[in-house]
Amino acid sequence: MSEALFAELRTIVGQSNVLTDADMRATYENDWLRQWDGETPCVVRPSSVEEVAAVVRVAAAAGVPIVAQGGNTGLVGGSVPRAGAVLLSLQRLTALGPVDTLALQVTAGAGVTIDALQQHARASGLDFAVDWGARATATVGGAVSTNAGGSRVVRFGTMRAQVMGLQAVLADGSIIDELAGLPKETAGLHLPSLLVGSEGTLAVVTAARLRLVPWYRETAAALVACDSLTDAVLLLSRLRQLPNLDAVELMMPEALSVACEFLGVKPPMDPREAGAFVMVDCAALTDPRDELIELLADLRGVLALGNQREALYRMRDHITIAIGTLGVPLKLDVAVPVAQLDRLVRLIHAAAPGEARVIIFGHLAEGNLHVNIVGAGDASAALRDRVLQAVLDLGGTISAEHGIGVAKVDWLERQKGPVAYGAMRAIKKALDPKNQLNPGVLFASAPRRRRAARG
Ligand code: LAC
Ligand code: ZN
Repeated sequence: MSEALFAELRTIVGQSNVLTDADMRATYENDWLRQWDGETPCVVRPSSVEEVAAVVRVAAAAGVPIVAQGGNTGLVGGSVPRAGAVLLSLQRLTALGPVDTLALQVTAGAGVTIDALQQHARASGLDFAVDWGARATATVGGAVSTNAGGSRVVRFGTMRAQVMGLQAVLADGSIIDELAGLPKETAGLHLPSLLVGSEGTLAVVTAARLRLVPWYRETAAALVACDSLTDAVLLLSRLRQLPNLDAVELMMPEALSVACEFLGVKPPMDPREAGAFVMVDCAALTDPRDELIELLADLRGVLALGNQREALYRMRDHITIAIGTLGVPLKLDVAVPVAQLDRLVRLIHAAAPGEARVIIFGHLAEGNLHVNIVGAGDASAALRDRVLQAVLDLGGTISAEHGIGVAKVDWLERQKGPVAYGAMRAIKKALDPKNQLNPGVLFASAPRRRRAARG
């Protein structure tokens, strides 16, 4: 990258928002679990859509690629800079518009954290429905770009279901402004829908018009011990009858143990005495505990209210961090039809080497498993391919909510088939003909460096 380009970037965003020192760049170059090695000549931190557009324009003119990054909480290397790309941090786009209590919508900048968005909505008695453990760091732009899911998808759907409109910068620096958020609009292709889940490869998302939901502040949770994963799956049809069901999380015993060990707390139920745990959360405008008490009448489980519920969530939210302290695991975010979950988990255990630790948790209602295998060593790559092939054979998806990133580019075409994948490539080519935006993500192109075992 030339000095002239640095100078141009400084003119756009100001001296202090072009970071070139190795120390200043470091936290942007690697992901938080240190799965991926990245490198960038500079981090650029614009504060408005106009600045983003100008940065994209000058980078494009210089032929330098751009990797957009939000809170950098991703797990598939999608926002880790590669191949000399400029790292475009959207963290300063923190504008939050007024909560529209008539339309139940709000406009949020790409750099607004999920937590800040939720707090903002709650101040008006509403809530933002998508939620997961990294809420304090993960941002709206990243959530849109990966079509993030989390724990409340069973009730409200994924990020795609919340996005009413988007503002985004195209590869040539022009701006798409579709923030009207009209609930009904049949005026041609819906570009916001196209950009959700496109992982920064088609445009840089700078703001989103988002659906809000009622703030169900009365909550009650339960941890249910099931004899087997099959029993946990069968429980689903009963859980779906609960009027205020908000989350159905799966924790295999090992996941519960690992999180409790990490936090230094006693597990609420003995992990050795169950084949699978289901964490059920209900939320409503009035106390929903009765529906859980009734449910628990003929099940093995504990009710968790107030602080106990918070402790349960804390444990759930720390599983990934806890696993990260055990080593660099093979991590796979996959989903299969719920009826196939037990087959998949059996297959994973059978395929993993005896000395490896298999830690599985996830989102039961969507058949979404977070598979973590620690200590598989040299067997990791073959194991990954075996599991992903099994997922496809069972009618599932190689990514449920974390995205493809660079981690699974070699598998996307196998899932989608040549026709759908070809259509994706055609769209990429039309919107980003020079492959400036996040090259190597979704579509293989740039060289990438792996550390050790990973998805
Ligand atoms: C979770 C993240 C890893 O469910 O998706 O905790
Ligand atoms: Zn998850």
